Amino acid sequence: MHFSLTAQPPARQRADCLVLPIHASRELSPAAAAVDTASRGQLAEWLQNSPLEGGASQAPVTFYGLRGVSATRVVLVPVGARDKLDVAGFLKAMRKAADAVLASGAGSAAVHLDGIAIDGGDDGLAVRLCVEVFAAQAYRFDESKSKEHRDKPPKLRRVLLAAGGDTRRAKTALACGDAIAAGTATARTLGNRAPNVCTPAHLAAEARALARAHPKLSVRVVEEAQMRRLGMGAFLAVARGSRQAPKLIVAQYAGGKRGAPPVALVGKGVTFDTGGVSLKPSAAMDEMKFDMCGAAAVLGTLDAVARLELPINVVGLIAAAENMPDGNATRPGDVVTTLSGQTVEILNTDAEGRLILCDTLTYAARFKPETVIDVATLTGACVVALGGQAHGLWANDDALAGELLDAGTAAWDRAWRMPLWPEYEEGLRSNFADIANVGGRDAGAVTAAMFLARFTRAYRWAHLDIAGTAWKQGKAKGATGRPVPLLCRFLLARAGAA
Ligand code: BES
Ligand code: MN
Ligand code: ZN
Repeated sequence: MHFSLTAQPPARQRADCLVLPIHASRELSPAAAAVDTASRGQLAEWLQNSPLEGGASQAPVTFYGLRGVSATRVVLVPVGARDKLDVAGFLKAMRKAADAVLASGAGSAAVHLDGIAIDGGDDGLAVRLCVEVFAAQAYRFDESKSKEHRDKPPKLRRVLLAAGGDTRRAKTALACGDAIAAGTATARTLGNRAPNVCTPAHLAAEARALARAHPKLSVRVVEEAQMRRLGMGAFLAVARGSRQAPKLIVAQYAGGKRGAPPVALVGKGVTFDTGGVSLKPSAAMDEMKFDMCGAAAVLGTLDAVARLELPINVVGLIAAAENMPDGNATRPGDVVTTLSGQTVEILNTDAEGRLILCDTLTYAARFKPETVIDVATLTGACVVALGGQAHGLWANDDALAGELLDAGTAAWDRAWRMPLWPEYEEGLRSNFADIANVGGRDAGAVTAAMFLARFTRAYRWAHLDIAGTAWKQGKAKGATGRPVPLLCRFLLARAGAA
């Protein structure tokens, strides 16, 4: 979908569809008022005879063939009271608007956001969010359906946005929204792909393809033999039971000064998690294809960063492996030596994410990173604690935690901070190794983070557990692309400060 800014008056827009906000009590936005004038009062007259009142909970209404208006369709979007428009309300309204435009069969649409002020947002916010929402609602994943079973692709190709306010700011907001939307779509598509297709080798190939598309991005892969030479005993233990070779994918984006310390993003890329010998129950096990959504988010974020050509250095480290049971698989009770030298008793082979991550986090120190953020579908316990709304956030630095929380709020891709108190480490005690890979049942998301914390003492570090937020279950089953928006906001803020 192509997005651009427009300064045309709404009635003269050369687009199939106009999208105009109205507020509660039938108060017209400036653009809706202009269209009403052009139609010599027809819009207001129709509105009087319709149940549309403008309250935030109402559905949009589409009018056809308004006189004096070039667009054949006009979608009126209720956004509620003018002085009470928050981000959540705006997103909800825009999602419904985008669905109405997509359903109308329009090939192009002009969205008029002038006069729309979101609480606590700058002029660019409405533009950025509008781009992200239209792209997200038009997203389809049907590459694995045969032609007859595919839904018709959306007709909507071109979206024009009228913003009012500062044009330069609107331009920047549009570019950011566009890049974040593209990065999110990249992450969703990788997440949605079947686990027999999306293997560790596939992730490596996709990373290489991304590097070919962006001149400032380069990719190399640490292969299994190299991991063995390095001493990544924990990482290797996870892949032992699989026919798929593990890959540590190193993607370097060099947009900043040479030698400037990078932000490292570490992604869990378990392309299928059966649990290994500690086998998972079969109900909903298919969803464990989404266990590489951390890796997908890292690649999606790099895609967005490269599109925006941000003036910073970023290293993406993707720990890719498949967790399967076979005669060669790791047993509960096996003891391995990690790259850090610490030994781990693997009491449960289903706690595999922390095993591939701990060696990757140790490896991350080589890049002398300014900050390291890992992103992982790490624990079912995090789903129990926070559900599908917030990512779990752990950090060994308060300023970093604050930046990530703020980025999440600004992107409406929110995180919630959890504790890293030494008392929680108790559970990881082992009689046979330095630590065990699992604690008890209590605070499972915290003990997993405590495990990782033992490998991240050399740098500023944050951990995002995205087990509840990376995909949706049920009828709308599919990857969300989260936390690409949060990570992009975080890096954009970094780039602004640089
Ligand atoms: N990938 C899972 C976590 C997960 C489970 C994410 C369900 C989303 C939904 C992870 O590898 C795992 O299996 N974790 C175990 C850890 C336990 C054995 C300590 C879990 O959460 O049950
Ligand atoms: Mn597991
Ligand atoms: Zn897993």
